[in-house]
Order: sequence, then structure tokens, then C-alpha cells
Amino acid sequence: MKQIPFHKAHITDEEINLVVDTIKSGWLTMGPKTIEFEEKFRDYIYKDENKKGYEKRRVEQKDKIYSYSNKGNLFIIHQREKALLEVLNKFNFSDLSDKKILDVGCGTGGTLRRFIDYGAKPENLYGIDLLGDRIEVAKELHPKINFVCGNAEKLPYPDEFFDIVMQFTVFTSILDIQLKKKIASEMLRVLKKDGIVVWYDFHMNNPKNPDVKGIKKNEIYQLFPNCEIFLKRITLAPPISRKIAPFSITLCQILEKIPILCTHYLGIIQK
Ligand SMILES: C[S@@+](CC[C@H](N)C(=O)[O-])C[C@H]1O[C@@H](n2cnc3c(N)ncnc32)[C@H](O)[C@@H]1O
Repeated sequence: MKQIPFHKAHITDEEINLVVDTIKSGWLTMGPKTIEFEEKFRDYIYKDENKKGYEKRRVEQKDKIYSYSNKGNLFIIHQREKALLEVLNKFNFSDLSDKKILDVGCGTGGTLRRFIDYGAKPENLYGIDLLGDRIEVAKELHPKINFVCGNAEKLPYPDEFFDIVMQFTVFTSILDIQLKKKIASEMLRVLKKDGIVVWYDFHMNNPKNPDVKGIKKNEIYQLFPNCEIFLKRITLAPPISRKIAPFSITLCQILEKIPILCTHYLGIIQK
């Protein structure tokens, strides 16, 4: 792994080139600093038209895959929502009207907005994300939710403030083990004694995406030591869902009952 001198206040041109080359070659661990650098040097990194074209294609492809009009994706979203509501109910969190809820790595706030439909009050919802542009979009889409741009390794909330602290596919996008540990410990710090952490993330690696790393059961136990942990495998592998859902939702539902075909863990973690 290349060592990048992130701690320095002044960065030389040579060091900028090193960072840019490293990001271009896809070698660098995707941690908050990487994102900061990539944001800062985006124009430089993708300066030639070819790269811009590549970026655009990537965004378009992503839109197509993650769009609600993609039946496979819609199946995944519906099944996840169903499993989430079932598990909230199982742990006596079906009434969310007075619950304070934090989404760590909230992106543009989609998950929190769904929680309003589940009965939570917008003013009790909090979201934090490292990327300013995502937080701006989130604020625009729901100004009453408390969104903040920041690093979850130091959460700007008091101890035992939240009833629910959740993370949806954030830990797999962080490769630095120490950072994952710090975030997990912060999530527990801000959680009330009788609160729950909601975990949703994949446990398998994605061969097409070296910037993410699947998190298996034993790592979840290590991240949240001395906690009660309930885990359920959900989410029929997206490539399978996307292939089969256009023809048969029933077949997708049957296949999703086979744990080995499911890529994610939905978890409830208690202190
Ligand atoms: C794969 S996205 C998931 C976004 C959202 N949770 C969802 O399910 O749509 C991962 C998110 O985690 C955020 N993230 C990564 N590291 C973070 C950190 N250290 N602190 C806060 N947010 C972080 C990224 O900026 C990104 O928005």
C-alpha cells in the first residue's frame, strides 16, 4: 500500500501528482481522506475528455442499475424495506413517533426520508455524510431533517442521544480497519442504553469494485464487542435479481429464501 502524507498542511506538486496517480490507478484505500482528495483534485484527475466521458458513462450506468424503473433493483428495495420493517417490529421499534434516529453515511438522505413514512418525525431524524454535495442535495430534498456534513469517526452528538443509529452500506466502502472501529464505537457512544444499531451491508466482495470490501459476520462481532447481535441474510444477489425480476418476481422471492444466494446482512445490534 502506498503511503500518502495526508497529515501535512502543505502539499507539494510532487505529492499531489503521487495522490492523483494513486487514485487513477485505483490503489488507494477509500477512506475519508481519499474522498477529500478526489473531490479536491477531481478536475485535475479527470481533466481530459476521455476521462470525462468515462465519468459520465459511469454515472449513467449507475443511474440505470439503481433506478426504480429497473425491476431487479425495485425488487431489492422492496424486499429490504419489508425485512427492515419486520425486524423493527420484532425488536419493538414499530412506533417511531418519538424516536431519535441517526443515519451514518446517509448519502442524499433517502433512507431517512423513508423513515418519515414509517412514522418518524423529520425533526427527530439526523444524517451525517462525509460528502458535502450529497448533504446539500439531502437538505434540499428535506429541509426539516437534521443533515450535517462530517466524518463519522467523530460524531457531533452527545452520548446516548439516539434510539436508533443505522448504517446502510457505509462500512463496506471504508477499507481502513481502525476507521471502521472508530465509527462503530462512536455509533455505540451516541446510542441510548435501550437503543438499537441497524446494520445493512454486504458480506461478499465485489470483484468489479476494488473500492469496497465485504464485511462478514465475525468482523461485525469484532466491530461491536460485548453487544447482542442479530443478523439475517437478505438481498438476493443483485446480478441474479436484475436478470430474473423482469420475468418472475415469484422466482426471485423463492431464490431469496436460499441464504447462500443473499449478499447482505440486515442486523440489529444492542449494547
Ligand atoms: C455506498 S454510500 C451509501 C449511502 C447511503 N447510506 C445509502 O444507503 O444510500 C456510502 C456513503 O458513506 C459515506 N461515508 C464514507 N465514509 C464516511 C465517513 N467516514 N463518515 C461519514 N460518511 C462516510 C460516503 O460519503 C457515502 O455517501
